[in-house]
Amino acid sequence: MNPDRYAPIGVFDSGLGGLTVVREIMRNLPDERLVYFGDTARVPYGSKSKATVIRYSRQIVRFLRTQKVKAIVIACNTASALALDTIKPEIDIPIIGVVRPGTDMAVKATKNKRIGVIATESTIRSGLYQRLIREADGEIAVFAKACPLFVPLVEEGWTRDPVTKIVAERYLEDLLKQRIDTLIMGCTHYPLLRSLLQEVAGTDVTLINPAYETAQALGRMLNENGILNDGQIEVGERYRFFASDTVERFNAFANSILPYEITTTQVPIESY
Ligand code: DGL
Repeated sequence: MNPDRYAPIGVFDSGLGGLTVVREIMRNLPDERLVYFGDTARVPYGSKSKATVIRYSRQIVRFLRTQKVKAIVIACNTASALALDTIKPEIDIPIIGVVRPGTDMAVKATKNKRIGVIATESTIRSGLYQRLIREADGEIAVFAKACPLFVPLVEEGWTRDPVTKIVAERYLEDLLKQRIDTLIMGCTHYPLLRSLLQEVAGTDVTLINPAYETAQALGRMLNENGILNDGQIEVGERYRFFASDTVERFNAFANSILPYEITTTQVPIESY
């Protein structure tokens, strides 16, 4: 039996948003232990360059390795789009991002072969969602739109606010004119806007939450590597949370979206 089976999974994000991915992993793989790192001191990644996001992601991976993780999930869409391909060959444990699972789900869901993608500026500029969809099915037309105002609106807690609705109508206008039938919420924060986005897009548009499919794909990846936790042995704390900035805001947000009360430890990430 592989002893790594009982080690935790490392999950990281630029800040708080990756907790939407944690929530899906907790639901789908309740026996797994998790170590989460949120880079709250350096958020947002969504407007930063590829070189910077790779440097930050490498530091976080080094930190997670000190926590003896058996696998890593890049919960951040921007880091998945900009850094996963570089980091994957540099480490000897399985690693997965959220972009490919989200793409797979959207390609399966579309009937009229017209998919919209909304994400941060850096994710859209990377073109990864667009490329992976076209590679999966060359007949699918992809329409992409950066929505930089959504992240601060969600962090402000304005997920049902009329202001956010007006912003969403403006952002989605062009995509809806293109008659998309599937919309990828390609940023950690957007699933928290799900009901508002559904209202604006209409019930004919299927919303895709990459976090959901990532949790499924993670289960398959752990199984293939023989390191799926069977829950037979209780070792240490189940969930541990770390952040690079002070933790009060992180705890408040986490406790509003997770089914568990959590505490967080601050980490000097620049030293990794
Ligand atoms: N976590 C980022 C993402 O999913 C959104 C926040 C940011 O810009 O860092 O792209």
